[in-house]
Amino acid sequence: MIKDITEVLFDEATILGRLDILARKITAEYEGKDLTIVALLNGSVIFMADLLRRIPLPLQVDCLAVSSYHGTQSKGSVTFRQTPVADLSNRHVLVLDDILDTGTTLRTVLDHFAQDKTILSLRSCVLLRKLIAQPRKAEADFIAFDIPDAFVVGYGLDYNERYRNLPLVGVLGPEAIARYAGR
Ligand code: XMP
Repeated sequence: MIKDITEVLFDEATILGRLDILARKITAEYEGKDLTIVALLNGSVIFMADLLRRIPLPLQVDCLAVSSYHGTQSKGSVTFRQTPVADLSNRHVLVLDDILDTGTTLRTVLDHFAQDKTILSLRSCVLLRKLIAQPRKAEADFIAFDIPDAFVVGYGLDYNERYRNLPLVGVLGPEAIARYAGR
């Protein structure tokens, strides 16, 4: 698997070091508040597990399954594969996603939660923010890393459901992209 990666952007130690800092910021921000973290599946599953264990607050967790990517391209629309069930009334909601690219996914999810007027505050946190040329549809409030505009996998991010289990974030090479295209 690792041989398919043309460039390692962040190894596990680097990611965990940055999550320590991010978790401290989030803890300071939400101390004394009723926080619910809503993680977007499947991509943020590893990010969620590592980040949550670094936040020493009595928070609640829920997940929302969405998809917007097909292969290495955004479909431009977001499908909710499962709707959230948690009661978010009178709670501060922090949405977690693996990567912010065009912002389509985050915009759709934030708009969905914004309809619930009983939510006290709504913010977002991403592991990666891709530096793209065009304007984004949404911005994140908490960001672990900025990355170049390349297709990356690992640490929860996939290519056609592969590579999520790589313990690093890296750029996927063209041979692997061709090998697993459409399957
Ligand atoms: P948008 O464009 O909606 O993209 O901001 C966010 C979602 O698209 C997926 N995505 C990627 N997945 N490598 C991946 O494995 C990437 O480089 C990449 N860029 C976007 C991801 O699911 C994210 O939630």
